[in-house]
Amino acid sequence: MSKPRIQFHILTLVILTFALFTIGVFSLAPPVSAEENPCLTCHAKIKEPQFVHAAVALGCQTCHKTVEGKSHPAEKQSIVLIQNLPGVCFTCHTQSKFQEKTVHSPVLSGTCTGCHDPHSSNVKKLLTNKMPGLCFNCHKESAFKGKYDHAPVYGGMCPACHSPHSSPNQKLLVSPSPEVCYTCHEKSKFNKKYVHAVVKLGCDSCHDPHKGDYINLLLKQPVELCLSCHPNKNDGRHIVNVPTEKIHPISGVKDPSVAWTKKIPDPDRPGYEIEVPDPDKPGQELTCFSCHDPHSSDYRKLFPVKNICKKCHVYY
Ligand code: HEC
Ligand code: HEC
Ligand code: HEC
Ligand code: HEC
Ligand code: HEC
Ligand code: HEC
Ligand code: HEC
Ligand code: HEC
Ligand code: HEC
Ligand code: HEC
Ligand code: HEC
Repeated sequence: MSKPRIQFHILTLVILTFALFTIGVFSLAPPVSAEENPCLTCHAKIKEPQFVHAAVALGCQTCHKTVEGKSHPAEKQSIVLIQNLPGVCFTCHTQSKFQEKTVHSPVLSGTCTGCHDPHSSNVKKLLTNKMPGLCFNCHKESAFKGKYDHAPVYGGMCPACHSPHSSPNQKLLVSPSPEVCYTCHEKSKFNKKYVHAVVKLGCDSCHDPHKGDYINLLLKQPVELCLSCHPNKNDGRHIVNVPTEKIHPISGVKDPSVAWTKKIPDPDRPGYEIEVPDPDKPGQELTCFSCHDPHSSDYRKLFPVKNICKKCHVYY
């Protein structure tokens, strides 16, 4: 982080000196008011928004030049960029940050102004629109909306996972999957003694990173998801040799280990409590992950506890 900044400040200094010489202003304060910057008498709007690009304070000439022989504003194209986009930005901003292995299409085409106002904006980072609306200018919003949302997506935190510019990883990810998920989700839940083989490959074999039609952003109905890779686990017999030779249910019944009631004050007996069904916990159905942690575990076969049967039964 520090290296580009030093390089940056030297460049800024060089350009500042250059700009001051060319426009012949030697005051220490950069020309920001209309009296000091004649361009602003007509283009005052540039300075109105809350955030003004630091480069604007250095003078319009850092990026614009008058075409010789043309008068402004009488003639069209009388004022042009000193260099085409995105080159004009790279006179100050480190170009290599925009040229990593995966480059975002609008950056590749030099369309910085698709997302940034070069002068000023009421949105941080000079963005032309708030997040995530900015991304939805080009990406279809419906692709990010499901029955269940992932909090950071609608929180507009796309940059928590994607670089808007370029990245050494596929899909512009700021770090490869699953590492990118551990910036917010505690890694210790996913790297216990026994790790489910697929978790090491990333989270996307089971979760959609953006939204989901199934609870927990799962790609399929829970049991269906597990069976898609473990098709032979649908015979009901893998759950040990159930003593009575009955087939153990894997769905269709409530999981007795999940609390689904809560205590509220008893309206009839002050000081006492009664147990009522919790409307927020409709009672989870028994599923594969009632007996196996989908991520990792300290016990064999990904059991969430050492003696799996005791989780729900007294006698087995
Ligand atoms: C007398 C008023 C006035 C002044 C002073 C002025 N401009 Fe303009 N400028 C205009 C008008 C009017 C337009 C045309 C706007 C339009 O077409 O919508 C314009 C257009 C532009 C454009 C768009 C490109 C073009 O040529 O149409 C740029 C860039 C620009 N001005 C930069 C500058 C800079 C830099 C300065 C100071 C060196 C400056 N202007 C000073 C009035 C002015
Ligand atoms: C950091 C570089 C930079 C600085 C500094 C800068 N501009 Fe610009 N300006 C641009 C770019 C980039 C465009 C868009 C050109 C394009 O899309 O072809 C632009 C476009 C414009 C336009 C036409 C479009 C619009 O937004 O209205 C005007 C007018 C303009 N600039 C005026 C100014 C004035 C006046 C200043 C100084 C107060 C200034 N600019 C400083 C980069 C800059
Ligand atoms: C004359 C040098 C210069 C040029 C040219 C320049 N910038 Fe900047 N830019 C700066 C400086 C200085 C900062 C402030 C850096 C900081 O705060 O660390 C900055 C900050 C920014 C920021 C962050 C703003 C924020 O609020 O944090 C964006 C976005 C940006 N520039 C985009 C651009 C784009 C797009 C271009 C090309 C159109 C461009 N810059 C050209 C000097 C420049
Ligand atoms: C697809 C939209 C998009 C495009 C295109 C884009 N940017 Fe950005 N840029 C962003 C977003 C979003 C941020 C804020 C990132 C954040 O909040 O972490 C940003 C941040 C920045 C910053 C601030 C420093 C930083 O990394 O936070 C600079 C400087 C910048 N952009 C310059 C540019 C330049 C130069 C170009 C063209 C080569 C460009 N951007 C193209 C969306 C874009
Ligand atoms: C100016 C239009 C535009 C904007 C704004 C934009 N994108 Fe994109 N983005 C594209 C295009 C075009 C592609 C390439 C699509 C393709 O290849 O199918 C793309 C591709 C992507 C990809 C996939 C990259 C890959 O290597 O497959 C990601 C991730 C992405 N964008 C994230 C974002 C985020 C996050 C934002 C908001 C900060 C954003 N985009 C805003 C135009 C845009
Ligand atoms: C929690 C992290 C995270 C957040 C937040 C996030 N993404 Fe993604 N995104 C991913 C991952 C991981 C992938 C790769 C999925 C894959 O490879 O199947 C991806 C893929 C993409 C793609 C490529 C899709 C494709 O099929 O190639 C686009 C475009 C995209 N994201 C845009 C966005 C936009 C826009 C936002 C904000 C509205 C956003 N993402 C927020 C993690 C995230
Ligand atoms: C920027 C922070 C952030 C990142 C990065 C992130 N998440 Fe999340 N995630 C959250 C938050 C916040 C919640 C909501 C937590 C809650 O409600 O308790 C959440 C919830 C979830 C949920 C549960 C969803 C539900 O409906 O309750 C899943 C599954 C999930 N994230 C998967 C992922 C995956 C996979 C990745 C990596 C691609 C990832 N997350 C990266 C912040 C993040
Ligand atoms: C084999 C499929 C699978 C993989 C791979 C997977 N998950 Fe999950 N995940 C699930 C299932 C199933 C649930 C629901 C568990 C439950 O409700 O008890 C879940 C729940 C979650 C939750 C919400 C509940 C909680 O434990 O906080 C988060 C967050 C989460 N996963 C994140 C991730 C992350 C991050 C990765 C990658 C490191 C990942 N998952 C990989 C299947 C998977
Ligand atoms: C994308 C494929 C995939 C999905 C989806 C998947 N698994 Fe797995 N699972 C594997 C692989 C690969 C292994 C390791 C090879 C093996 O033992 O068959 C494994 C192993 C296991 C093991 C044995 C672990 C051990 O230590 O012996 C259990 C238990 C398990 N998975 C349960 C589940 C459950 C429960 C689900 C649904 C939440 C699920 N799996 C979803 C691929 C998957
Ligand atoms: C009631 C608890 C329970 C449920 C529900 C359950 N399992 Fe198991 N599972 C077990 C037990 C116990 C074993 C260990 C059997 C043994 O010791 O060989 C096991 C073993 C496994 C293994 C490892 C098999 C091997 O050969 O090592 C996989 C994979 C597996 N289960 C997947 C699933 C899937 C997929 C589901 C949902 C369709 C599921 N389980 C539902 C208790 C359960
Ligand atoms: C997550 C909770 C859970 C775990 C763990 C679990 N079971 Fe069950 N078990 C159930 C439920 C629920 C039923 C169905 C009860 C009903 O139909 O009323 C059941 C039914 C049974 C039955 C049939 C009993 C009957 O009366 O019909 C046997 C036998 C059984 N389980 C054995 C086991 C064994 C052995 C283990 C350990 C390998 C185990 N269970 C682990 C929840 C669990």
